[in-house]
Amino acid sequence: MPASAYRTIIEPFRIHSVEPLRLTTEDERRAALREAGFNLFALRAQDVIIDLLTDSGTGAMSRDQWAAVQHGDESYAGSPSWFRFQAAVQNLFDFPHVIPTHQGRAAEKILFTVVGGPGKVVPNNTHFDTTRANVEYTGAEALDLVIAEGRDPSSPHPFKGNVDIAALDALLAERGDVVPLVMVTITNNSGGGQPVSLANLRAVREVCDRYGKPLFLDACRFAENAWFIREREEGQGDRDVVDIVREVASLADGMTMSAKKDPLGNIGGWLAVRDEALAARCRELLILTEGFPTYGGLAGRDLEALAQGLTEAVDHDYLRYRTRSTAYLGEALIAGGVPCVQPIGGHAVYLDARALLPHLDPLHYPGQSLAVALYEAGGIRGCEIGTVMFGRQPDGTEQAAAMDLVRLAIPRRTYTQSHIDYVIEVVLGVAAHAADLPAYRIVDEPPSLRHFTARFEPVPA
Ligand code: F0G
Repeated sequence: MPASAYRTIIEPFRIHSVEPLRLTTEDERRAALREAGFNLFALRAQDVIIDLLTDSGTGAMSRDQWAAVQHGDESYAGSPSWFRFQAAVQNLFDFPHVIPTHQGRAAEKILFTVVGGPGKVVPNNTHFDTTRANVEYTGAEALDLVIAEGRDPSSPHPFKGNVDIAALDALLAERGDVVPLVMVTITNNSGGGQPVSLANLRAVREVCDRYGKPLFLDACRFAENAWFIREREEGQGDRDVVDIVREVASLADGMTMSAKKDPLGNIGGWLAVRDEALAARCRELLILTEGFPTYGGLAGRDLEALAQGLTEAVDHDYLRYRTRSTAYLGEALIAGGVPCVQPIGGHAVYLDARALLPHLDPLHYPGQSLAVALYEAGGIRGCEIGTVMFGRQPDGTEQAAAMDLVRLAIPRRTYTQSHIDYVIEVVLGVAAHAADLPAYRIVDEPPSLRHFTARFEPVPA
């Protein structure tokens, strides 16, 4: 019988090298929390049992990637590792100019330094926070134009990352002269890891063509997005993911990329463009801040690992396991009555802390309270995405964020099903006494990006 005839979808790999986990006690974790000011970013990773803070750079490389590392050629200019990397990128994304950077935000910084500036407006389905920050740093405005369903945690829409085409059309009709390019983030991380359909990308392309605007992809999770297109979009079910990825790339004029996600790297990124003049301006900045154009921000061995990772990222058995195992966690939590953003996205499960902790006002940080409780109860580190992260306004006031979520991001190929079964047990245990979880207040916060370094304390009931 083919493996696919069975219900259980196994990890399509076996373990080759192990990293020990330190199994802490609740008392040890309570002490670590006090020392960290109840901010999970301030913990020592060694004090975390299951680390779901991010799926970025935290995946396990394969045997073949480690073997490729040995082929790394560290020549300053024209290294064979560079040519292998460039060919692997262009095999999927047919952009003539590939500009290697040390991670995604470096590509964003270069792109928006060239095309941004005061008075400009950059639309996106939802800007990831570093993308928004890089747009705004130039004085431009970052505008989110995701469909209404994408803002509703319980809407079952299969492509909640889609761009609101009418809103994009209206923006370009009214203020097209100040829009340097249109961006689409696949999958839409800030909106719950939700995919964008091929039909929507084609429609965005059509609008861009009518107004003569370039279309750029923020393509960190392009392979998961393509898998969702294959699974969920009519007429796409028989296609090879590589074929879908190539079509998606063919619709765009360029991309920014964090290779720490789907390309299965621990570091890396790139900017790729069709336009030669734009490429020349970007390469000038690359040389100032990253490196020579044939290595940019990366060592030859990183380029090799990424070239190999790109071939593994589009493997169907891997993508089936990847999306199924994320859904496995989400479905078990939903079945246990824990409110989650639905449908379950590709790289993470987002718990709806505001719905689970209705006794806490958003300004008492229900997401922080839930994230701290998961760490205390089981050593699980998730990430608050809510009022702590977005609540402080530029004018100094504080407002509730649109949602108060806790993201449990799943590193690629790192945890097994029994790790995830443990996560399910811990989350359900915490959810059973959610009504007892305390409010938090901030006792110390920096002027910006406070979620990384703020210190908190529980407010006695
Ligand atoms: N774009 C998206 C959609 C991302 O999710 C990220 C990173 C970036 C750009 C920036 O890439 O980290 O390589 O500079 N997301 C990570 C996360 C940090 O945890 O979601 P980077």
